[in-house]
Amino acid sequence: DRIGQAAGRPAPRVVEADIRDRTAIHDLMERSQFDAVMHFAGLKSVSDSVSRPAEYFDVNVGGLVTVIQAMKSNGVRKLVFSSSATVYDLGAGQGAIREDAPFGPNNPYGQSKLMAEQVLQAQEAAAPDWSVGILRYFNPAGAHPSGLIGECPADPPDNLLPYIAQVAAGQRQYLGIFGDDWDTPDGTGVRDYVHITDLARGHLASLDALERDGHGHVVNLGTGRGLSVQDVRRAYEHACGREIPFRILPRRPGDVASCYCDTQRARDVLGFEARQDVDAICASSWKWVRHLYPEVSPS
Ligand code: UFG
Repeated sequence: DRIGQAAGRPAPRVVEADIRDRTAIHDLMERSQFDAVMHFAGLKSVSDSVSRPAEYFDVNVGGLVTVIQAMKSNGVRKLVFSSSATVYDLGAGQGAIREDAPFGPNNPYGQSKLMAEQVLQAQEAAAPDWSVGILRYFNPAGAHPSGLIGECPADPPDNLLPYIAQVAAGQRQYLGIFGDDWDTPDGTGVRDYVHITDLARGHLASLDALERDGHGHVVNLGTGRGLSVQDVRRAYEHACGREIPFRILPRRPGDVASCYCDTQRARDVLGFEARQDVDAICASSWKWVRHLYPEVSPS
């Protein structure tokens, strides 16, 4: 309903089913005429994937296979897939990451995304009338600017933005920063935070490119700019008008100093460029958080 409200259109039809439920996914595609599929249904916590690897392969790879089979039997041949920068060997270097950078996911979540990409590329090679857009997200962040749609993370959130948001909302006392001795300008980890509305535009551009080019692509989606944990914390303070207290904690296992993307291919292939900056990310997140926790007084 809120998607409809935010878009000023009738709410989209929703069918609730498990992505691994072959019958449900087949029936859905048989009953409706799909031109293309955008596939987002996956598990996405790095730490969770280390303790429950089988579920990650089952949902992220097995679920994708179910979608492909349903598409095949119903003549749907265009797919936009939600992948991740986690497929890269992020420990390898510090520069901007290009799409031809070496792979090397170091956790089951990342491995499941890389396997899913391989499944899709094999399908595309086997069926030349298929075209697949693989989008490797960097750090998606923020909420819909209306404040109507945002994330409700598991408790406690793994990711930086929802964690800061909970501190701002008074749900947590302070932000724990995982290390201030990284080889970065202020010693805290640097990432490429991309606003979810920019990501959404990237998906539409991907679909347009599939229709236009008749073949697939693999593209990074990010801003090309790296921001440190402290940069983001300060931007959030500015957006919410409150102090975000922090403590420096030990480094988190598996983290890297810096990760941001090379945006050249996104520009060339999709005509895509991120438009929103960290201030827009934090402002939209704060608007959503006040919706999520109505008891938070406006600042
Ligand atoms: N961080 C903190 N404190 C927190 C949470 C995060 O200091 O409470 C720091 C991290 O150490 C890191 C940065 O904030 O430097 C970003 O951390 P996130 O967990 O938000 O994001 P990651 O870059 O670690 O992971 C994201 C996605 C993963 C994906 C990965 C690589 O969440 O799904 O990018 O693409 F695998």
